[in-house]
Amino acid sequence: MTITAPSATMPLAHVLKLIASRAGDLPPMPALAVQALHLTKDAKASARDLQRVIERDQALAARILRIVNSPMFALKAKVSTVSHAVAVLGMDAVRSIIMSASVQQILQTGVVKGHDLGTKLLFEHSWGAGVAARILAERTGYSGREEAFLCGLMHDIGKPILMKNFPERYAGIMAEVYGRGTAFHTLEMQMFGFSHAHVGALVAEKWNFPKQLIDAIGAHHDPLAAEEYTHLTCLASLANAMMVKMEIGFEKNRDLELQAHPAAGFLNLGPTVLDEISGAVGLAVAAHAEA
Ligand SMILES: [Fe+2]
Ligand SMILES: [Fe+2]
Repeated sequence: MTITAPSATMPLAHVLKLIASRAGDLPPMPALAVQALHLTKDAKASARDLQRVIERDQALAARILRIVNSPMFALKAKVSTVSHAVAVLGMDAVRSIIMSASVQQILQTGVVKGHDLGTKLLFEHSWGAGVAARILAERTGYSGREEAFLCGLMHDIGKPILMKNFPERYAGIMAEVYGRGTAFHTLEMQMFGFSHAHVGALVAEKWNFPKQLIDAIGAHHDPLAAEEYTHLTCLASLANAMMVKMEIGFEKNRDLELQAHPAAGFLNLGPTVLDEISGAVGLAVAAHAEA
């Protein structure tokens, strides 16, 4: 089937129609993540409220404790309770961890019997991009570091939805990305007429994510086309490119020239700084792997 690819200027509503006609209903956001996001946005909410939400999910509580005690945070004393973890990390960072656990859950929805669609690789790629986006935020003077982390973490959230809805065809795309190194979004545009970035933006919109997240997810493969939040979108876009260059995830390209990336130009990052930042990102991702 030949489908005309949507142009960058095609209205979102039209792309939505295209996707809805082929991808069925978009999934709901995990309940725990909704509660946690709501609480961390509410100025009146206390660390204790957040703690209560987390403690309803023992696996999540254990994961938070594992992360806070990992080499990433280099704490002198061991943290053994959720309330202590919230006090040490702060509400924003704990929200990021909850969102990571939720992303893992969403990625699981892409697993279809008979097709191993690489949930683990996708999560490593997503988490790594979150870590990279946070470091890039720091180095480029962007104050919303956890927001940058979330954008990196969520940037490919459209992929599991495509996997779930088109298991056979998406398995074919993944095999080609893995085997030949062609980019996901290029193959998706050829096959569906839209990419995981379009789907991700729609899901983020459905979940009532802040506009900046919708923008960054939707334009992460064409960051200068972001409607409003170009800096944040460039952070997510460059973080993704770093993961491809570090070969973390399905798409691998060691020869990718980060300095030629449009986001590097926008953020004014030259080759020396990019090398230095890539080193810091590599260490941070490795520290997580030990967690
Ligand atoms: Fe992507
Ligand atoms: Fe990606």
